Amino acid sequence: MNKLSRLLLNWYRQHGRTLPWRDHPDAYAVWVSEIMLQQTRVETVIPYFEKWMRLFPDVKTLANALEQDVLNAWEGLGYYSRARNLHKAARLVASDFNGELPRDLTKLRSLPGIGRYTVGAIASMAFGMDEPTLDGNLRRVFSRLFDISEFADSSAGEKILWELAVQNLPKGQAGDYNQALMDLGATICLPKNPRCLLCPLMEMCAARKNGTQDLRPVLKPKKATPQYVHAAGVILQRGRVLLAQRPADGLLGNMWEFPNGRVEENPAKELVQVLNAAYRLKVKKKEALGIIQHAYTHFKVTVHAFRCDPVSIPKNKNLEWVHLSELDNYPMGKVDRQIANKIVARD
Ligand code: ADE
Repeated sequence: MNKLSRLLLNWYRQHGRTLPWRDHPDAYAVWVSEIMLQQTRVETVIPYFEKWMRLFPDVKTLANALEQDVLNAWEGLGYYSRARNLHKAARLVASDFNGELPRDLTKLRSLPGIGRYTVGAIASMAFGMDEPTLDGNLRRVFSRLFDISEFADSSAGEKILWELAVQNLPKGQAGDYNQALMDLGATICLPKNPRCLLCPLMEMCAARKNGTQDLRPVLKPKKATPQYVHAAGVILQRGRVLLAQRPADGLLGNMWEFPNGRVEENPAKELVQVLNAAYRLKVKKKEALGIIQHAYTHFKVTVHAFRCDPVSIPKNKNLEWVHLSELDNYPMGKVDRQIANKIVARD
């Protein structure tokens, strides 16, 4: 074992975080937690993980669950394709692998939602295999330790960083090594104002020596995010409200929303026309209910919600009249859940 991993593992034994999936050595728990932890902070994930393990304690229970219940349990975590892929993958593991995640890198990688990062995490943490992994935290830690000036999010940069992860991996302890690097990245080697004086690797950090720690990792310049304005109709009749189910693929796939569409300029004026064009709905607009903003990864949206009366509503399997007391059972993104909460609080 080299000096880097020795110092790192010593630090991890004293300062590693106590996290619920670390108490569950089973592969399913490791898998669920790793999918939840992609793009999401540990503190946010913990309550979702605990609830998930109560609702779907093993692969077979998840495989047999309804997609609506799976999305409901994920609601609020974002990036919902993660939940849909986890569900699909659980069905495959139940049907093709007798409910056990395969201990084979190629087979693991063939499952929906499991890429190189997740394969490395599961193989090392759940199966004790000598596999590296590389998430955002590890990218930052290695970029600083070895003062990498290549774009860390380019294929050339990724290649260098994966090689560093492999070169320093201590045989037989890859799971702890990977998790130690994650904890170091989350608690010491922070994106802004890294706490170098507390770092067990300070003496061997090239960026620290060169004074470049604030310049690493080097990331490609971000494109400006577009800003859209939408008008949404809260169409109410006799204690029920009309919801639309989104297409299965893409953003918020299969989740529910208030019928809405993008407007050019004036949401109040364009609402009726937009709902007609998108869903063939005929409605009468009543009062404004509120304005909600949300930032997705690649764009921002401002949604203007209006209460409406139905005039003519076509039969359509993607449109459903839902009782206000049932709204919680319909998985929604954050914007629509805020609108739903407004009308439930009002009525
Ligand atoms: N981020 C992703 N996976 C993690 C893990 N197993 N422990 C801590 N942070 C993580």
